[in-house]
Amino acid sequence: MENTATRIDWIGNSCRLLKATAAEFESTRPFEGLTIGTGIHLEPKTVALLTTLRAGGAGLVCTGNLNSTQPATVDYLRSLGITVFATQTTDPAEHHRSLEAVVDAKPDLILDNGGDLFAIAAGRPYANLLGGTEETTSGRTRLLPMREKLNMPILVINDSPIKQFAENKHAVGQSLFESYMRFTNRSTNGKRVTVFGYGACGKGTAASFRNAFSTVSVVDIDPVTALEAHLDGFVTPLREDAIRSADILITVTGFPGIVTVADLPLIKDGAILMNGGHFPLEIDVSGFRAHPDVVAIDRYEADVMETLHLKDGRSIHILGGGHMANLAGPRPLGNSVESMDLGFTLQARCLERVAKHGAGPESCIVPVPRDIDAMVASAYLDLAR
Ligand SMILES: NC(=O)c1ccc[n+]([C@@H]2O[C@H](COP(=O)([O-])OP(=O)(O)OC[C@H]3O[C@@H](n4cnc5c(N)ncnc54)[C@H](O)[C@@H]3O)[C@@H](O)[C@H]2O)c1
Repeated sequence: MENTATRIDWIGNSCRLLKATAAEFESTRPFEGLTIGTGIHLEPKTVALLTTLRAGGAGLVCTGNLNSTQPATVDYLRSLGITVFATQTTDPAEHHRSLEAVVDAKPDLILDNGGDLFAIAAGRPYANLLGGTEETTSGRTRLLPMREKLNMPILVINDSPIKQFAENKHAVGQSLFESYMRFTNRSTNGKRVTVFGYGACGKGTAASFRNAFSTVSVVDIDPVTALEAHLDGFVTPLREDAIRSADILITVTGFPGIVTVADLPLIKDGAILMNGGHFPLEIDVSGFRAHPDVVAIDRYEADVMETLHLKDGRSIHILGGGHMANLAGPRPLGNSVESMDLGFTLQARCLERVAKHGAGPESCIVPVPRDIDAMVASAYLDLAR
């Protein structure tokens, strides 16, 4: 027998931890009679999380985040009878209407990504809201000033060590390496790579390129972190030398203006520039494009690459317009399924904890409880054995 299977099927079957959790939830039904309002990217990996929550008895009312809603995912969720208020839009006002619609449904639990839903709920509270989860650091920062108003358990997933090492360290490194290959189809062997930033994401990125036979230099503004890179065996030259030597320059700091037009005289002919940090401002792409020394620009539109030709005969290449390379360009896949499987299982377990009243208002905007980290880690290891 031959079946036609989709990307959503592939991702769902690859999320082994969520599948096991869903099987357990089918008998324990932790969300029986409860509605969960979600505001997280509507893409295939999220489907695996949402169907797991549904297996636990949850009614779902969902929206996505700005500019990341995949219509096929919305259609699929609706075909399961899940309520979705979302359009693929870059218009914040239009997106806000979808967020409002989710809160209007007065869900008992909220699964938030960036603090959008909890911020609305803080402004117009309703009695049955028990609490929920927030995925990101930026959401935590945004919601902290609303702590007194919220006064309910909100567990922050990004603060789990599992999220830090599984996604930020290992998955971002691998997916940035994959993205370099996907964009350029060029090799990494023998290339000189400079990584700006040696936080969790930079560590994985530097390691992935070293494992792919590149010579990797690290630049970090914090001397203690730079020392760590040095002791990890990376070259830690002065910033200017690190730029001058690089065939591939990668920024992963989370700060703007890491590589700017002031560096143009240093950049090697043929160098490739790419960013893995959240904001598309680490490489000053618009500054480079507008620089008077740039005499021509080739745009590889379908591949979202551009080549800037300089007056002195050099050329430099920029991938994905300086946006997070693993979510830019043709067929962006983002981070690995396994890293998302771990992060989303933390989500499911934290929501279960709040649903069962296992966390009170003292747990308003706190990290994932340690015993949930341990439970998720053990479950993953059991499946890996
Ligand atoms: N691409 C993805 O899928 C993905 C996933 C998770 C996080 N991120 C993003 O990646 C970025 C980095 O995340 P992280 O968890 O590694 O952060 P982090 O805070 O752990 O590390 C950032 C590092 O950059 C260094 N730094 C700061 N300014 C610098 C400068 N001017 N020059 C050189 N180094 C500098 C800091 O000292 C620090 O060591 C963030 O923007 C984060 O949102 C991306």
